[in-house]
Amino acid sequence: MQIVILAAGQGKRMRSRLPKVLQPIAARPMLAHVLDTARELSPARVCVVYGHGGEQVRAALAAPDVVWAEQAQQLGTGHAVQQALPVLDDEGMALVLYGDVPLTRPETLRALVDAAGGQGVGLLTVTMDQPTGYGRIIRNAVGAVQAIVEEKDATPEQRLVREVNTGILCAPVARLRAWLGRLSNNNAQGEYYLTDIIAMAVADGVPVVAAQPAQAWETLGVNSKQQLAELERIHQRNIADRLLEQGVTLIDPARIDVRGELRCEPDVEIDVGCVFEGAVELGEGVRIGANCVLRNVRIAAGTRLAPFCHLEDAEVGKDCVIGPYARLRPGTTLAEDVHIGNFVEVKNSQIAAHTKANHLAYIGDATVGSKVNVGAGVITCNYDGANKYRTVIEDDVFIGSDSQLIAPVRIGRGANIGAGTTLTHDAPEGKLTLGRARQVTVEHWARPVKAKKS
Ligand code: UD1
Ligand code: CA
Repeated sequence: MQIVILAAGQGKRMRSRLPKVLQPIAARPMLAHVLDTARELSPARVCVVYGHGGEQVRAALAAPDVVWAEQAQQLGTGHAVQQALPVLDDEGMALVLYGDVPLTRPETLRALVDAAGGQGVGLLTVTMDQPTGYGRIIRNAVGAVQAIVEEKDATPEQRLVREVNTGILCAPVARLRAWLGRLSNNNAQGEYYLTDIIAMAVADGVPVVAAQPAQAWETLGVNSKQQLAELERIHQRNIADRLLEQGVTLIDPARIDVRGELRCEPDVEIDVGCVFEGAVELGEGVRIGANCVLRNVRIAAGTRLAPFCHLEDAEVGKDCVIGPYARLRPGTTLAEDVHIGNFVEVKNSQIAAHTKANHLAYIGDATVGSKVNVGAGVITCNYDGANKYRTVIEDDVFIGSDSQLIAPVRIGRGANIGAGTTLTHDAPEGKLTLGRARQVTVEHWARPVKAKKS
């Protein structure tokens, strides 16, 4: 099988500079979804017919298994498929998909191609309560498909037909080539209609079969931001349903967004408003509080995230307690049972087991040992305005609140750093080190009083 994806339309109603087929569903271009679906069918060839925003579309979706055919002027769907003909082999079937119909399931397409049976034409149709705007499927007295008539060319009687063309069809390439060569644009829109090949097939005695998708959303197209948003919700709901089937607890399956791949071990629980981007893996029994955003993160079993955490390119060990309002930035690795509390930011740092940083801290470019206690307001000063340096904190260290650790600096095993210290040199192990102005109390001091205006 060979697949042609029509993606030359401009999508004016999007009111966007981004070409329509690059508009995202789950953070990926619509056309990328269609290409994924196409690949699931193991086609001999995939050809994308592009036009508007061509270079941008090609650059965004370049792949070795995709060939591109330009349609410089959008003269109709039949004309569009014609542009792909030079790269199609006469042997076998061609399946036509639309770049702006992103949610079709591969099973549905396989069933359509099977129904066409190698020699016939297969049409994917749906029956709609409001068929306005679609091409109508015209059947004869015994129910055999005779033609597709576009809305603008239809008689009032034909417009009453509620079975419509989804646009997705398959046909033998050699036949398609002959039929497309005979298209005319003598119709209400002055376009070369792909749909006109149906009447030609019937005239040539080629069987035309219609198949229907199992789900109505499979053939919904996107022409506006409203429709894009609707399909996003449908797609997200489908992902949520898959997670539920796998045994994930979703407090509200309508309030989760997965923009990538989320893999969950048993008994994961996810509260409302969470966003998962890129590759996220959650271990057994992990609980994610409300409104967390996780991007390319691995979390081991038993860890809990309180609400409002933001994690990116991080690895979290088992039984950790994170948040609320914690931020793990790229390069963060936490071992088991690490506690990262509210308003703590960690970047490019490795933190060993049982260490706690529970309040208001910045740990950047640091290697932190196990059983370390990082007090409230502790900051690693890792950047001198030009270069970044590492801080090394060995096991069992206690760092008093509001200390600044000016890197490069090392704190030896078991050391204590007094609260309010600005640490500029290494602190030896096992000792108390502090650097702060000595406290004084000024005797006989009085608060100023406001001068009397004369
Ligand atoms: C088309 C069908 C109609 C069907 C409807 C389903 C035709 C003549 N009509 O109508 O029967 O009910 O889809 O949505 O086929 N495209 C190109 N180049 C072109 C024209 C279109 O690449 O010159 C692409 C568009 O980007 C889009 C798809 O083909 O992805 C369909 O085009 P659109 O203009 O939406 O077709 P309709 O007129 O709505
Ligand atoms: Ca359309």
